[in-house]
Order: sequence, then structure tokens, then C-alpha cells
Amino acid sequence: MVSTHPVKVQDSGIKYLPDSTKEDIEISGISPNQFLLPLTARVNSHDHLEIGGCDVKNLVQQFGSPLYIVDEETLRAACRQYRDSFKRYYKGESQVIYASKAWSCLAVCAIVNSEGLGIDVVSGGELHTALIAGVSPNQIYLHGNNKSRQELILAIESGITIVVDNWYELETLVELAPSITSQSVRIMLRLTPGIECHTHEYIRTGHLDSKFGFDPNQLSEVFEYVSKQSVLSCVGVHAHIGSQIFERQPHRDLAAVMVQWLEQAKSYGLSITELNVGGGLGTKYIESDDPPSIEEWVKPICEVIQSACEKLNLPLPKLLSEPGRSLIATSCITAYTIGSSKQIPGIRNYIAVDGGMSDNPRPITYQSVYRAVVATKMSAPCSETVTVAGKHCESGDIVIKNAELPKTQPGDILVVMATGAYNYSMASNYNRLPRPAAVLVSNGEANLILRRETYQDLIRQDCLPERLQKS
Ligand code: LLP
Repeated sequence: MVSTHPVKVQDSGIKYLPDSTKEDIEISGISPNQFLLPLTARVNSHDHLEIGGCDVKNLVQQFGSPLYIVDEETLRAACRQYRDSFKRYYKGESQVIYASKAWSCLAVCAIVNSEGLGIDVVSGGELHTALIAGVSPNQIYLHGNNKSRQELILAIESGITIVVDNWYELETLVELAPSITSQSVRIMLRLTPGIECHTHEYIRTGHLDSKFGFDPNQLSEVFEYVSKQSVLSCVGVHAHIGSQIFERQPHRDLAAVMVQWLEQAKSYGLSITELNVGGGLGTKYIESDDPPSIEEWVKPICEVIQSACEKLNLPLPKLLSEPGRSLIATSCITAYTIGSSKQIPGIRNYIAVDGGMSDNPRPITYQSVYRAVVATKMSAPCSETVTVAGKHCESGDIVIKNAELPKTQPGDILVVMATGAYNYSMASNYNRLPRPAAVLVSNGEANLILRRETYQDLIRQDCLPERLQKS
């Protein structure tokens, strides 16, 4: 056992560690999405980074590299903050649903669900994962702008709620449902609210020119159609305006617009009792990022809905929300091993790691910026500006441009922070790299939650026609 201590920002000069204890965080309402490292991050007496009571270097020795390391405490703290903030600020019923597209695997679904959260899925694969993780069908919501017939059949058979995106899907459901179930299928309607937010173009979804959801100008027709289908039971409306949002006004505006939809539904005799405001709260990736806390995001949404319902004399709907990124991003770090380097005098110094765009495609896809620390030299001063390159055959495979790091050598462990959201879930086998393992750490214990892929896994789905086989 090594002794450990929480390192304060000012003590260490390291800008990334939480300078509050877990208890402070629960009292002050600061939330995990406002930190770069998991809440349990410490530096131990070997000057190594420790997460969940486990030395990162030991984890890499035991489980290999690259490695996703997930801190259970941070993930649970974010779940509890969402759940408790809605309980505190909303007078009606509420339900937080984890958008599992951020990271779908059995262990993550099971943890989140054990904190009372439902699961939002967007494919048959995510639905299967949630069901096998033991999530009850009445806590699962299926999204998607082009759900296949097989996905819709699985959804109807499983008895989950389907968030209907378009006319084609509505009509397909009306056609499919009667031969599968004698009960009406529980649906919600996804609408495009026409709200702009300032985030990357690819992760904006609420503006009118979006591939998702019904056009709100067709609201009357949709309500009218749905009200006549006895095979469908329409319980609510849904909207999601985008991701990695730091402003609070767009969600206030969204809440106000959505209450008007509830009012409109009344005239079609629909009893719409659920309102889902989607996800979108941003997370901190670099020092200058300053997202609102979970509580700061939840409070105005609740206030706007409550006052709008009061004005219109509407009963309070059940309020649903669907966070992904802000729930899980900070709970995970990715540990890489540093290998080769290249110095181009007067231009740039590169160091290369043993992963890259296959385990984190966000930099190459969205020009996302990350920060890193050297897990084995936590108090060494940052003395170099280096560009951290991945190992893929692609010049754009850069993990971090111009990272400020201590002097490193091959074998050092580089930890990239806040990699919990949309890293593993968007990972690929580009260049036939096996996907990394993931471990869950808590109180000094580490449990594998994703096995590292092997070369055998990589060729598992390959077929070699007989005529191509060497005799
Ligand atoms: N609900 C719906 C219907 C969504 O489409 C999304 C995200 C969420 C909830 C969760 O949003 P969040 O709380 O995570 O912002 N791959 C991109 C992010 C795509 C987000 C897609 N939809 C990235 O890596 O930034």
C-alpha cells in the first residue's frame, strides 16, 4: 500500500486534479462535468496518478495499453446529481435517462440503471445491450431517424417506449404492431424545435434543417393522425437540440416551446403526460471550458416548465431528460504508452502513442481538443510543447496538438483526460488495431468491463471463400 493524498491545484502546479473532496462536491453542487480528471484522482507517493485507489501504471501493467479506465465513483456522482437536482427543483415526477450512445456496454448500463436512471438507445444493438444489462423495458427509450423494421419489431416485442421520428416510422408501426402485440405501443414524438445553439455543426440537432424529428409546422397533422391510431399510445413529446452546450438559454427556450406543444396536443384529445428535453449539457475538456454544473442546467429547465404550465393551467408533465456526455465524460481517462518521437527543428516535436483515432476519433472528426498528463511524473514541471500523434497511417491522426508536458521517454504513460463520452462508443478497428480494454476502478479494486480485442477477434467475422484458400 502506498499513501495517497488529494493534490490541490495550488500545491502541485498541476491544473487538472479536482481540488475538492467527494464530500465537498456533494455539498457545493460542483459536478463532475466541471473537472478534467475523475473525482478520485490522486497523486501517490511514487508521484504516479491514481484513479479509484488504483495506480495507473499498475493498471497498464496488468491490463495492457492503451487502456480506458473508468472511475465508478465519478459516474455514480454524476447520476446522483442529475437525479437529485430534478427531485429538488421539479414539483412533478421526473426521470433521467442515460443516452447510452455516449458509451454503451453492459457494465455502464448496469451502473447507471442501479442509480435509478433509464436508458436511451438508438439501435437494436444498444437496445440488446441495455436489456442484457438487466434494464427493465419500461425504463428504455428507443430513438433513431431510420429505425429498421427489425429494430421496431424488437422494440415492440420488448415493450419499450419508441420515440417516433418521422411519418414513415409512424406508418410502419401502425402496420407492424397489431401482428406482434395486443396492447397499444407506447410512443413519444420527436419534434424539431427550431432552436439554434452554439456547438459544432455535426452535433447540432434542434435547428429546422436537421435530419431528426417531425417538422413542428406539421404538429397538428401528426397529433391528428396519432390520435386516431388505437394501436399507438402517444404519451409524450421529445426534443434534443444538440450536444456539448455551455449556454443555458437554449434549453430554457426549448422548455417553453415544448409546453406549448402540450397545450396544442390537448385539442386533439391526446393525453400527453411526458415531456423529454433531451440531453446536451457540455463537459470540460480543457482548462478554459466552463460548463454549467448539472444543477445549474436542471434548475432553469424545471422553472420554465413549471411557470409555463401554471400560466396555461396545465398539469405538470412527467419530466424526462437524456444526458450522455455530461454523465460519463469525466469518469474515464485513456492511458497510452509513449513510443517513438520525431523532432523537426523549428517546426514541431512529435511523440507517438500506441493508439489514436481508432480509440478516440473525436479530434479528427470534430477537431476536439484534449489535455494530457504523464501518469508516472505527476509533479514534474511541464517543460515541453509536443504534439501527441496516434499510430494510424493518417497524418490527421493527432491526439493532441501542442500539448504542454514534462520531458517524456519511451515507456512513459500518457493519460488523456475526459475520454468517457463518445470515445469507446465511436471506436473502430481502423488499420486493424484491436480495440482497447476498459477497467472499472473503485476503492482500490479494478474490474475488467471490456476485454481487449485480440487478432483472432479481428478476423472473427471474416470469410475466406474456398476458392481463395491455399490448398
Ligand atoms: N438525446 C438524443 C436524442 C441525442 O441525439 C443525444 C446525442 C443525446 C440525447 C445525448 O446528448 P449529450 O448529453 O451527450 O450531449 N459523437 C458526438 C456527439 C453526438 C451526440 C449525438 N446525440 C461527439 O463525440 O461529440
